[in-house]
Amino acid sequence: MVRGILSAALAAAAFAGTAFAGAKCSKDSHCPQESPCCSLYGDCGVGAFCLGGCDPLMSHSFDSCVPGPVCQSATYTLDSLDDVQTIDKYLGDASSINWQSQGMPAIYTDPSSGQKSTLLTMAQGTVGTLLASTHYVWYGKICSKLTTAQGQGVVTAFILMSDVKDEIDFEWIGIDTQHVQSNYYSQGVTVYTNGEKLTVPDKSTAEEMHEYCIDWTEDKLTWTINDVTQRTLDRKETWNSTSNRYDYPQTPARIMLSLWPAGLPTNAKGTVEWAGGEIDWNSPYMQNGYYYARFQEVSVTCYDPPSGAQIKGKKVYKYTDESGTNNTVAITDNDVILGSLMGTGENPGEKPKDGDAKATQSLAMVPGGNPGGGAGDHQLATSAAAVQPDGSSPQATGSANDGGASAGQFIQNSGGGGSTGAGLIVQPGLGRMGGSALAIVVAIMGLIAL
Ligand SMILES: *[C@@H]1O[C@H](CO)[C@@H](O)[C@H](O)[C@H]1NC(C)=O
Ligand SMILES: *[C@@H]1O[C@H](CO)[C@@H](O)[C@H](O)[C@H]1NC(C)=O
Repeated sequence: MVRGILSAALAAAAFAGTAFAGAKCSKDSHCPQESPCCSLYGDCGVGAFCLGGCDPLMSHSFDSCVPGPVCQSATYTLDSLDDVQTIDKYLGDASSINWQSQGMPAIYTDPSSGQKSTLLTMAQGTVGTLLASTHYVWYGKICSKLTTAQGQGVVTAFILMSDVKDEIDFEWIGIDTQHVQSNYYSQGVTVYTNGEKLTVPDKSTAEEMHEYCIDWTEDKLTWTINDVTQRTLDRKETWNSTSNRYDYPQTPARIMLSLWPAGLPTNAKGTVEWAGGEIDWNSPYMQNGYYYARFQEVSVTCYDPPSGAQIKGKKVYKYTDESGTNNTVAITDNDVILGSLMGTGENPGEKPKDGDAKATQSLAMVPGGNPGGGAGDHQLATSAAAVQPDGSSPQATGSANDGGASAGQFIQNSGGGGSTGAGLIVQPGLGRMGGSALAIVVAIMGLIAL
């Protein structure tokens, strides 16, 4: 799957007008030492590539990725962006920041109740918005109250995604506001029969706030809507005699909230069809120039780690074996905070000082894209993102925007001044590493002193 994508990646890079091509990674081909971390999208880099989503089974060594902060039971009200940091700023300190963002989140104030919530916005020319938790969950109950975006080609997602790509999904297609698609994946392997469409009670998912929960234990997975169980999956049902293990999500996962453009004409045809067609950028469902999904709350109740877990500490989850199964994740005290985006798990580095020499080389430090969620039961998706050539995304404006600017641009060229080869690569998704139309954008930032 990964290899088949390469030619398309090159074509997309040409489309984006950049000559940079970073190393790719897979289970068979790990990242090189100088860019040791394999991002969620199969690209090697440093900095943000080594944080959330860094795949330890494809990276240079088990120490390359920064181990994931352990589960934290909490209720996040999502009524301000103080707890959100853009991916090009976050250096791994989960004790001070709970959400990492890509794209343009904005605060919305309900005019009648005054209640605030977070909008994930998607303006034309962007790949939408993604919020990912900085803490991982290794079994727990995770709930969110939300309303979805409407319109063809527009997909809202609330998912759990582990660094080895175990995944549990709720996904809403913008043309069907009566249903939600539930899905799960094990280590990113596409199995077309895992998806199930659930009926949402009462009013439209776009107009009415419902509470969606994923209750995830070692043995059972339950999807509920407004406290009513809609689907269950027993671990036992997932035995795979070819791979000799359960194809059951079993590794620490981040919570992801997203709004993403499955219906871009550059995406695979099947994905566009799954999403109900191409996106209309003059849709009545857009406001202030963007599509939006509204998340009012996320709550997390952590469960105990599996009985057989290797418990050697309290702070982080660390993979110890290339099988990537539940019994190969240890809980340790090896927490790491990067000194800068040039750091890695092996060599976190120090905070750069003014006047540090500028590097002459370019390395990828911030992976882009929006994994959305499982894009469909029946398609592999390869997609290229429509990002504005300068990497900017339109500002959220108008009444729905209260402080969105602090959450920043989708991709920032980090003050490069252009002299060190700052640029963008637009890449297709890795097939279904989620069937997701991964609209992938990798910001290649010059190694200037940050
Ligand atoms: C079993 O695992 C193999 C290898 O990962 C995969 O290709 C196959 O699709 C799985 N089979 C089922 C029925 O899920
Ligand atoms: C997790 O590991 C234990 C052994 O430590 C095993 O019994 C259990 O089946 C594993 N769970 C999955 C989903 O493989």
